[in-house]
Amino acid sequence: MSADAKRAKTTSSRHFDLAAYLAAKTDAVNAALDKFLPAEKTKPATIHRAMRYSLFAGGKRMRPALTLAAAAACDGTDAAAMPLACAVECIHTYSLIHDDLPAMDNDDFRRGKPTNHKVFGEGIAVLAGDALLTQAFEIAAQCRGWPRYSHRNIVLEIARASGSLQLIAGQVADVEGEGKKLSVAELRYIHERKTSALLCCAARLGGMSANCTPAQFRALTDFGHHVGLAFQVIDDILDVTQTSEQLGKTAGKDVAAQKATYPAIVGLEKSRRIAEQLTSRAFAALKTFKGKAVALEALAEYLLKRDR
Ligand code: IPE
Ligand code: IPE
Ligand code: MG
Ligand code: MG
Ligand code: MG
Repeated sequence: MSADAKRAKTTSSRHFDLAAYLAAKTDAVNAALDKFLPAEKTKPATIHRAMRYSLFAGGKRMRPALTLAAAAACDGTDAAAMPLACAVECIHTYSLIHDDLPAMDNDDFRRGKPTNHKVFGEGIAVLAGDALLTQAFEIAAQCRGWPRYSHRNIVLEIARASGSLQLIAGQVADVEGEGKKLSVAELRYIHERKTSALLCCAARLGGMSANCTPAQFRALTDFGHHVGLAFQVIDDILDVTQTSEQLGKTAGKDVAAQKATYPAIVGLEKSRRIAEQLTSRAFAALKTFKGKAVALEALAEYLLKRDR
């Protein structure tokens, strides 16, 4: 059992064995990603090694888990949801490689290892990010397509969450916000875009892969939005409270870089309360699934209590 799975064991809700769930889903996602990506030796080998280096460096796989759990809440299957779960993880990993570049957060460690640019150089790291972003669409195109959700809907969903109005918008505002005293509303704008948009997309894609009803889609949107926002508030908190060893990335970087974060703007205690409130809102959104969203509930609880 992985360290993550062990931690999840102490936090799983209502007898749902989240530790076992996460261990199984992580294995399945890793196996699928391995099949979807060109082999390490495929020419040009450098780029495929660089893509795989960050993708298989040991991320928590929370976004693909959300996709699979959302699919299950709507009576879908892992098989149908898997291409979309993998696509989201590729986009997430690309965003981390670029986020760590010297031109952005300038970080040396990620997922417990030296960052992509530290190993492969900045040029290859930029290209590995580009390649993973592109790979995501190639993988997503291999989904089945459903009566309510065509390939067009799927492409739009992923492109919008990752594009210049969402994930990139958040990253732009994050970079431009360094050293500035932002309002809570401005901070929320950043967090909704740089992090919540892709987590929300992950949940919605799971629903889409199960041909979910419009009401289920709205519930997953509401859930994903709030759980995604809570996720970044907790990320900000952990940067202050945990060690680099615990996080697998350099702790204390936000203060050093004068980043706009929840602890910096409202303090640690209030940040914790905000994360709890957001998680409660996420839970409330799951009512419509009438007990079928046990995995999503357990994930939301774990994301709030996580220590890395
Ligand atoms: C880190 O995400 C970046 C944020 C959006 C906060 P994760 O904490 O999910 O990173 P991995 O995937 O486990 O490495
Ligand atoms: C990262 O936010 C968000 C994206 C990569 C889109 P952070 O900069 O806070 O993430 P960490 O702390 O480096 O993982
Ligand atoms: Mg950043
Ligand atoms: Mg960063
Ligand atoms: Mg952070």
